[in-house]
Amino acid sequence: MTNKTTISAKSAQLFSSQVLDWFELQGRKHLPWQQDKTPYRVWISEIMLQQTQVATVIPYYQRFMASFPTVIDLANADEDTVLHHWTGLGYYARARNLHKSAKIIRDQYLGEFPDDIEQVIALPGIGRSTAGAILSLSLHKHHAILDGNVKRVLARCYMVQGHTGQAIYEKTLWPITEVLTPKKGVANFNQAMMDLGAMVCTRSKPKCEICPIQTACLAFAGAEQANYPQKKPKKVIPEKQTIMVIPRVDQKVLMEKRPPTGIWGGLWCFLEISEIDTLDNLLAKLNLKQLSTLPLDKFRHTFSHFHLDIEPVIVDCEILPAKEISENSTLQWYNLTTNASVGLAASTQKLITQLQQLPI
Ligand code: ADE
Ligand code: SF4
Repeated sequence: MTNKTTISAKSAQLFSSQVLDWFELQGRKHLPWQQDKTPYRVWISEIMLQQTQVATVIPYYQRFMASFPTVIDLANADEDTVLHHWTGLGYYARARNLHKSAKIIRDQYLGEFPDDIEQVIALPGIGRSTAGAILSLSLHKHHAILDGNVKRVLARCYMVQGHTGQAIYEKTLWPITEVLTPKKGVANFNQAMMDLGAMVCTRSKPKCEICPIQTACLAFAGAEQANYPQKKPKKVIPEKQTIMVIPRVDQKVLMEKRPPTGIWGGLWCFLEISEIDTLDNLLAKLNLKQLSTLPLDKFRHTFSHFHLDIEPVIVDCEILPAKEISENSTLQWYNLTTNASVGLAASTQKLITQLQQLPI
């Protein structure tokens, strides 16, 4: 497979002026992170937007900014509080990396977000495209971006072979986005390219009839829009099973904080066992005495790389000296009548909501 694209300075200039003119009329200008643009505010929005739709992000973004108005506030917050603001957004490594990076900015950059792209890329959780977006949107620095939306637009416009995850695909697209990105108007251009991908050159049924770069678009000319970007071979993801044990005493349930890495790193979750036969063992270890069990409906939670079939079971327990448990900081009794400020995985949040609705 080969990808050869050459773009003359003149066609690059035409492309960017068409995109910039479109932005004036149609681009998005009123999103919360487009007001009072600072590297910090743009950084948080770019991380939230990485795997999540704009409409979902908005309320999370507003709560996050209200609690952590500056990078120093974020750096000084404890991890549970940061993860609490991420509950339901998924991909929690994003939040852990934000927190880590904020501490680096506090300690190594005197609380000033760095403006050198290599220093930005060196921060945990920030790749080349995100770094380019932060510095161009907030400081008008001349950097190109290549996020999922931009990749789709350019792959169609220049009929670039391959798909996300293939080295040749990215290797071809980077020089294209770099040639097209204008020195003047870089912030509007980058925002416009993301908007074009989100609003016009959509994954299915692109709206070519209203597209400002239609005259440049090779896929449009050849009626090949549906074939670009090329389809990724569908991967079959494995199915895993787990039993979630929910020890309950009155309106309190026992949860554990997961170790820092893994899908639920740093989040509060219910305890898991793989076989129901090992329940007695677990309860004995926790020094809990079981009165009765109540299975809840099974459900499936799908991650990017596996399905998890969850079988929840409530275990009503006799009150025991709380000491054994509260001494261990990775275990806590979560009060269902108050919502503690800790990070919860989406499936944990779902179970808690269900528990709150059960008759006592
Ligand atoms: N997705 C990623 N960055 C974005 C931005 N700045 N505006 C809208 N959607 C985006
Ligand atoms: Fe996408 Fe159609 Fe525009 Fe080409 S003409 S960039 S396929 S919306």
